Formats: sequence, C-alpha cells, structure tokens
Amino acid sequence: MNTMQVQLGDRSYPIYMGAGNLSKPELLTQHIKSKQVVIVTNETIAPLYLQQVTAHLQQYQVEVVVLPDGEQYKTLATMDIIFSTLLNNRFSRNATLIALGGGVVGDISGFAAACYQRGIPFIQIPTTLLAQVDSSVGGKTGVNHALGKNMIGAFYQPQCVIIDVNVLQTLDDRQFSAGLAEVIKYGLIRDAEFFTWIEDNIEKILSRDEEALTIIIEQSCRNKVEIVASDERESGIRAILNLGHTFGHAIETGMGYGRYLHGEAVAIGTCQAADLSKRLGWLDEADVKRIVTLFKKAGLPTQPPTDLSAQEFIKLMAVDKKNADGDIRLILLKKIGEASLPISVDKTALLATLNNYGRD
Ligand code: NAD
Ligand code: GLY
Repeated sequence: MNTMQVQLGDRSYPIYMGAGNLSKPELLTQHIKSKQVVIVTNETIAPLYLQQVTAHLQQYQVEVVVLPDGEQYKTLATMDIIFSTLLNNRFSRNATLIALGGGVVGDISGFAAACYQRGIPFIQIPTTLLAQVDSSVGGKTGVNHALGKNMIGAFYQPQCVIIDVNVLQTLDDRQFSAGLAEVIKYGLIRDAEFFTWIEDNIEKILSRDEEALTIIIEQSCRNKVEIVASDERESGIRAILNLGHTFGHAIETGMGYGRYLHGEAVAIGTCQAADLSKRLGWLDEADVKRIVTLFKKAGLPTQPPTDLSAQEFIKLMAVDKKNADGDIRLILLKKIGEASLPISVDKTALLATLNNYGRD
C-alpha cells in the first residue's frame, strides 16, 4: 500500500492507495471520531461493496443512505434524502459521513457533509477510476443546476481518501474509459512524460492490469495533490485541472445530464481545446492528432454532438466558474505537458473551432 499526503495545514489528509484496502478496517476506523456514522452510496454500488464497509463498523451506530444512480440525481433535491436521514436519527455535529461511490456520490455527499450543521467530518471511498484519480481528492463538492454543471457547491476537504484498486474490476468498460479522460488530462496539462507512458501502455491499462492501474492512480493523484496543495481554492494554477471542461460541461448540460458521461464530455472538450490551441499557433497538427488518437484508443468519443450548434455552445459556455466580466475564459495547451492559465480567447478562433472541429 502507498500513502500520499494532501498538504493543507490543519486540513491535511492521507490518500491510501492499494489493492484490498476495503478489507483493512483500521484505515477507516482511525478517522472516525464519534459513535454515529452515515454511509452514502447508490443502488448500483450498495450490492457490490456496502457489506465490506459495514463489516468494519459494528461498534458504531450506522445509518445507510442508498441514492438513485445517475448524474441526473446530482441535485439539491437528492441531498435532502441525506439530511432527512441525519435528522431523523438525531445525528450530531461530530457524526462521520462516508461517501462510497463514484464522483456523483462523492460530490453530493461531500456537499451534504459541508452543509449539515455547518460541517461534519467525511471520508471518501471512491469506487470509479474517475473518482480515484480526480473527484475524491481536493475537496470540490457540489451539485448541478438545470442551468449549469456543478454550479452549487463548496470547497470541503475529507478526513481521508481510501482507494482500493480491486473495485475497478466491476466497472463497465464505458465508465472505465470515462475515468481515463481525467488520467490523460494530467499528462496534457503538466506531465508530458506521463502522457507518453499512457500512450505506450494503453493496452495494459485497458486490460486493467493491477500494476498499470496502480501507476495511473498514483501518478494522477501525485499531480492533483501538488496542484491542490499550492492552490486549494482555485485562485490560480488549480484552474488548469479544468482543461476541456468548459466545452465538456456545455455538452453535459446542453445534451441533458447523463447522456454523455462526464469523462466522455471532457474527452471531446479536450480535443476541441487542442484544436483551438492549434488555431492560436501553440500546438501543431501532429500534436492534435496525437491527442485525438490517444482518446480514441482509450475508448472515448472525440467529436462534439452534431445537434449542439456553435451558438448553443457559446450560450452554455457562458455559464462557467472560470468566466469573468462576461468573457468566456478557457484553459488551452501551450504544448503537450503544459497548459495555459484561463485566457479570454478571440471569438473568431473559438467560433472556428466550434463550427469546424469534428463537424466534417
Ligand atoms: P458516477 O459517480 O456516476 O459513477 C459511474 C457509474 O459507475 C455509476 O452508474 C455508478 O453507480 C457505477 N459504479 C461506481 N463504482 C462502481 C464499481 N466499482 N463497479 C461497478 N459500477 C460502479 O460517475 P463518475 O465518473 O465516477 O463521476 C462523475 C462525476 O464526478 C461528475 O458529476 C463530475 O462532475 C464529478 N467530478 C467531480 C470532480 C471534483 O473535483 N469534485 C472532478 C471530476 C469529476
Ligand atoms: N477536477 C477539478 C478540480 O478538482 O479542481
């Protein structure tokens, strides 16, 4: 097992990474400081992994909240199910919330933990590749609004993150590929060597070889932890983690939450960002081809939905947390392995990408 520390002063916490971590009770129990524990999961994950977690918690008062499964349930209304359970069972301020699931369960539960009685401790047990390499680390929590993705939320750090590589074996191929979009992102924004390693080992990764999985999780978390430690609340460098996300969020919101998986929308959005970076003279044609080819090999879509026009994209992209003073601001690529900070891009170049990239 490998442990990595997220260094955030008195909000620092460990990420435990390894095979079989769900069967190690002490990883979990050392971070629970009260008798009351609520586990939040969903209807797909509960039959697979809930029992493994509750088995360690016999000495606690444990309540379980099983949410409906899907991005369309990442809403304020769903959070109310958690609050009702906590209140019905008289859970107090020192109760611990455990999020057992993918990014949707993690984001909703973390936000519920941030809000309940103005904040209770919570623990992340991420069960998708995407959640293990990205969403469970760094303290971004929240829900969607009909008008914009992740628009309601809070920065709220967990007590620890427990990653068990073994749970990835039950993930379906589409969801596994969606997680790879965020893995490839780290290579693109700041780790060219990692990008090349992914290119060279994509078959091994897709076969879910344990050693390859361990490498991509550790290297992704290492990149994320360094960024979060230097800019927890995204006043600067943390924004580069959103490469492709402004385009991607527009696809998720515009097409209806759940139609494109988050990782799929990010893959398409990153290809659009690469095309735009080429139009600004930063990437060349060969770089864009390399990026698109790797996403395709990873089993991800690379072309935007044909029924979302450039004008609709612009309208949706105008609702984004990176925007300022009415301007759309984007993370682009200076080269493979180096992202720009958010920049206001020339409208003509943006429209050229939206009208032309992937439309032929
Ligand atoms: P998800 O949570 O919807 O999980 C994907 C699917 O896999 C679900 O059907 C889930 O029930 C199922 N599942 C989960 N674990 C499983 C397992 N081990 N075996 C079988 N099935 C399993 O999707 P996701 O890709 O994990 O997360 C996407 C969400 O994460 C989006 O809402 C996105 O906005 C958010 N996100 C947040 C951050 C952040 O920093 N907070 C970062 C990236 C993405
Ligand atoms: N996934 C983007 C971030 O954590 O900042």
